[in-house]
Amino acid sequence: MQHQLSLLPYNTFGLDARAEHFAECRSEDDIRTALKSGIRPVFVLGGGSNILFTRAVVPGLLIKNSIEGISILESNDGEALVEAGGGENWHRFVLWCIEHELGGVENLSLIPGTVGAAPVQNIGAYGVELKDVFDSLEAVDLETGETRHFDKATCRFGYRDSIFKQEAKGRYCITRVRFRLTRHQHKINISYGDIRNTLALMGKTDEPGIADVSEAVVRIRSSKLPDPAQIGNCGSFFKNPEIPAGQYENLRSAYPDMPHYPLPGGLVKVPAGWLIEQCGWKGKRVGNTGSYEKQALVLVNYGGATGEEVYALALAIIDSVKSKFGISLEPEVNIW
Ligand code: EPU
Repeated sequence: MQHQLSLLPYNTFGLDARAEHFAECRSEDDIRTALKSGIRPVFVLGGGSNILFTRAVVPGLLIKNSIEGISILESNDGEALVEAGGGENWHRFVLWCIEHELGGVENLSLIPGTVGAAPVQNIGAYGVELKDVFDSLEAVDLETGETRHFDKATCRFGYRDSIFKQEAKGRYCITRVRFRLTRHQHKINISYGDIRNTLALMGKTDEPGIADVSEAVVRIRSSKLPDPAQIGNCGSFFKNPEIPAGQYENLRSAYPDMPHYPLPGGLVKVPAGWLIEQCGWKGKRVGNTGSYEKQALVLVNYGGATGEEVYALALAIIDSVKSKFGISLEPEVNIW
C-alpha cells in the first residue's frame, strides 16, 4: 500500500490530486487484503478516464483495479463467451477481440478506460452499447469482501447508467466481465452518421469487416476527441439530455435546426454538445480549462487546472444551458 500518492498518472483529466492510501490490486485476494486494513471509505479507480477529483486529497483507501487477463471460455460456430479482467485496458481488449475475429465491440474502439469500468456507465458509441454484448460479471463486495455474480438483468443497464451508478454505487469492485461475441457471422453496425462516410474514404464500402469498422471509429474519434496524453479530458462531460416531446416542440419553433433523436416513450434526446455550443462555450478557454474546440461536450485541462476549476466551469455551463433552453444538463463523469 502507498500513502499520499499523486494521482496525476491515474486520471486522464491530468489533475494533481493525492490519494491518502492507495492499493494496486492484481487479484481478488489483493482486494480482500487491502480491505482488511480497515481503512475507510474505500473507492475504486479504473482507468481514471471518467472521473473528476474536486478535492486535493482523496480520503481513505483508493483501490486501483489492475486485474488482467483475457480468455475464451466457450465457443461454437456462431459465438464465443470471452472473459476479461476488470483492470484490462478497454481498447486493448477491443483489439484482442478483433485479432481473434470476435465481433461486437468494434464500434466501441478507442474508448478510454478499463474493462471493469465499462459496465458501470454502460459505455456506448456509434450505435452500440456495452449491454448489447454483455453476458455477466463478477465483483468483490467492498463491505463483505465476498465475490458476487451479476447477470445482465441484475445490472439494470440504461443510457450511461447501471445499478453501479445507482443503489450499488461505490459498493463493488468489478473484477471480471464476460462478453458474448460473434464468430464469423458478424452483425456489422455502420448506421451511425460518420462511419459509412469514413469507410468510403478508406475505400471499404464493400462488405466492411470488424477491423475496418474499428479503424473507421478510431479515425472519427481521433479527429473529434482530444487525446488525453496531450490535453487532459474525460470524453463527454455531460449526458445528452432527454426531454419531453412537448418541451422539444416549444424549443423547435425558436431553434428549428436543433438536432434531435426521438426516443420510445415520448422523450426526445437533444445533443448536449449542440446546446453548449449555442451558449457560446465551444472552444472558449477559462483559466486553465475550457470546452474543447472540436466537440463542445468535452471539457479540457490545458495544463495545471484544478478539479475545482473544471467543476466551476461545468456549473457555469449548466447555468447557461438552463437559462437559455430550460434544460438541466447532468454530468456524465463521476465527481469525487
Ligand atoms: N454537436 C454540436 N456541437 C458540438 C458537438 C456536437 O452541434 O460541439 C452536434 C453534432 O453536430 C451532432 C450531435 O451534436 O449533430 C451529436 O454529436 P456527436 O455525434 O459528436 O455525439 P455526441 O452526442 O456529442 C455521444 C456520446 C460520445 C460518443 C458519441 C458517438 C454521450 C454523452 N456522448 O456524443 O461518448 O463517442 O456520441 O457515439 O452520449 C463519452 O461518453 O465520453 C463519449 C465520448
